[in-house]
Amino acid sequence: MIYNILAVGDVVGACGVKHLSRCLRSLKKRKSIHFTVVNGENAAMVGLTPNDAEDIFAAGADVITLGNHTFGKMQIRDYLDDCPYILRPANLGSRVPGRGYAVYDCGAARIAVMNLIGRCDLSFHASNPFTTADEFLKAEEKPTFTLVDFHAEGTSEKRAMGFLLDGKASAVWGTHTHVQTSDACVLPNGTGYITDLGMTGAVNSVIGIEPEQSIGKFFGDPPRRYDSAKGPAKLEGCVFTIDPETGKCLSAEGVRFT
Ligand code: FE2
Repeated sequence: MIYNILAVGDVVGACGVKHLSRCLRSLKKRKSIHFTVVNGENAAMVGLTPNDAEDIFAAGADVITLGNHTFGKMQIRDYLDDCPYILRPANLGSRVPGRGYAVYDCGAARIAVMNLIGRCDLSFHASNPFTTADEFLKAEEKPTFTLVDFHAEGTSEKRAMGFLLDGKASAVWGTHTHVQTSDACVLPNGTGYITDLGMTGAVNSVIGIEPEQSIGKFFGDPPRRYDSAKGPAKLEGCVFTIDPETGKCLSAEGVRFT
């Protein structure tokens, strides 16, 4: 059996959650998806609440990953400990609630998912994501295959992680920058890779935010609460086709669903 994995780019605001709920199941059906990972750290713009997480699971996500806004909504703290299907970056350290790596039983396959955060212009408080990735991949208990969401700003940092894990993980994708990159590929040693999945949210927006608010920020407006843009929405992500016998990725295809 070949596994089709769908990774969905950062869900932004009410617009993104609504669009995910509307179209994720039909996209999964169309692409014969077996396992879905959704980055949900912007569901409440800055962070997500337990209710947002429940909405994302109800929409069809198997696992939610997070990033720099993990604790944007503090009511998520206990949920991170209580729910095994939500991951915060593994390299945030052991004093932080929740987990950043888990293995999920999916019939014939045991699928490991790892969430990491980058340090280039993003989180200098995190420990080294390259060291963390190395340590988790040396774990004695071997899953059928491993998927990695690397939430990072720097394209070079993300591509370096892809090549570090090439042949060790089955798929590595980037999140956080919200603009889908056109480099979906299978790396030389069989790891599916894309630098950024893109986002799930308003089409006419600045990474999901009302354009006027973003423009104001760059003119020097004081800090404010940003609103999710409205109007037509899109879901962006990547489909990785994985052979569980070898753990190799056979194809990686960026997708956009409006
Ligand atoms: Fe982020």
